[in-house]
Amino acid sequence: MDYSEQELTGLIKFDEARRALAEAVSIDEIKSIRDKAEAMRLYVKQAGESLIMQNQCAELKIRAERKGGQLLGEMGLNGGDRKSESHRARVKLDDVGVDKDKSARWQSIASIPEKIFEEHIAKTVGTEEELTSSSLLNIAHGLRIKQREEERKRKISESRTLSEEESGIYCSDCLQFMKNMDDESIDLVVTSPPYDNMRLSFNSNSWSFPDVAKQLYRIIKEGGLVCWVVSDETVDGSKTQTSFHQAIYFKELGFRHYDTLFYVKANPSYPASCGRYNSVVDFIFCFSKGKPVVFNGIMDVEVKWGDSWGTTTRRKKDGSLDSQKIGNGITRTHKLRTNVWSYHAGNGFGGDDYSKEHPATFPEKLVSDLIISFSNPGDIVFDCFSGAGTTCKMAKKLGRRYLGVDISQEYCDLARKRIAAMDGPK
Ligand SMILES: C[S@@+](CC[C@H](N)C(=O)[O-])C[C@H]1O[C@@H](n2cnc3c(N)ncnc32)[C@H](O)[C@@H]1O
Repeated sequence: MDYSEQELTGLIKFDEARRALAEAVSIDEIKSIRDKAEAMRLYVKQAGESLIMQNQCAELKIRAERKGGQLLGEMGLNGGDRKSESHRARVKLDDVGVDKDKSARWQSIASIPEKIFEEHIAKTVGTEEELTSSSLLNIAHGLRIKQREEERKRKISESRTLSEEESGIYCSDCLQFMKNMDDESIDLVVTSPPYDNMRLSFNSNSWSFPDVAKQLYRIIKEGGLVCWVVSDETVDGSKTQTSFHQAIYFKELGFRHYDTLFYVKANPSYPASCGRYNSVVDFIFCFSKGKPVVFNGIMDVEVKWGDSWGTTTRRKKDGSLDSQKIGNGITRTHKLRTNVWSYHAGNGFGGDDYSKEHPATFPEKLVSDLIISFSNPGDIVFDCFSGAGTTCKMAKKLGRRYLGVDISQEYCDLARKRIAAMDGPK
């Protein structure tokens, strides 16, 4: 911007300019002071004037931006959002001659609390450090992240108010139920949906996988996990790949595909061969929202040569030998299990007599291993297709709070009876 020498000389009178800024009531006036201060800053910089002088110009410019940001905020002009009040009122940034980018930057600077803003200015002006709008934008950005983190923690702690008495089994379509749940209110989901032909046997052709997956993403806490137990049917000689499509979709929603565990049925009932090997594996797809916060790895694999296995010997500086553990997950007697988990499954192996009254229950041990691995006592465990209530039963047994939802009244009654029986003889 070109200014006459006279204008520039006039601008050096900072007190006057500050007064003008204090009295400015329109974006036009503020912009004019801001632009002149910036022109002055560039001029003194090029002229090789002191950093103190440059910083005085920068201070005036930044104060103008802050005031401009406050005014734009009050006017509801937050960046030209089409859905904003401002847009509906047909007042646009263009009308006040500010572009979107400037509006966002000025409002960021305006969002910095007074004390922090003044401290930063006081610390920088008069030192050998250059005062810039970017340094304040960085402060605003850091504050926003901190604020979001605090908000997230507050929400998480509020959502931990589900008392043990509120734990329960609810009879509902899971999608409708989840729509009424709070954001980020669940620590762990352990569930197995009716998939492929199983949909028919549960008379539940209607549930929409994408909608359920989206709700799961919304209700799971940051750091929480969804364990999705599925398998694929063979239709017309081909595997349906339903489970793979679902896994890809979960990742596309924003989940991390944290792990795939293989649930092996140790006691398969072998039908006559249909020209392929009998399938004894279900997938346990584990999806986390961000980095998982809990991993209590189960160390139940015996180490045969306990004294030497898992250790390495190093010579210390003083010449003596030191025996050290190799990596995590190994003790002298046990090591971490692999991702292949084997259980007796099916009627009679569910864990109790109640489980026999549902055609497709989890083995209790499978669920308790997942709950132990991926949650802590007091956490909230959810099963959106709870069937005979295996997840809820094991959650209760392990001191977690639980929520189970099933569309079938019969299975909800069964699950409630099953859980009630934990407190007394069946
Ligand atoms: C594979 S079973 C789950 C069994 C459970 N894991 C257990 O151990 O008992 C699937 C369950 O989903 C239920 N279901 C089907 N559609 C549903 C829906 N839209 N909402 C909630 N539950 C549903 C069925 O009634 C069935 O009990």
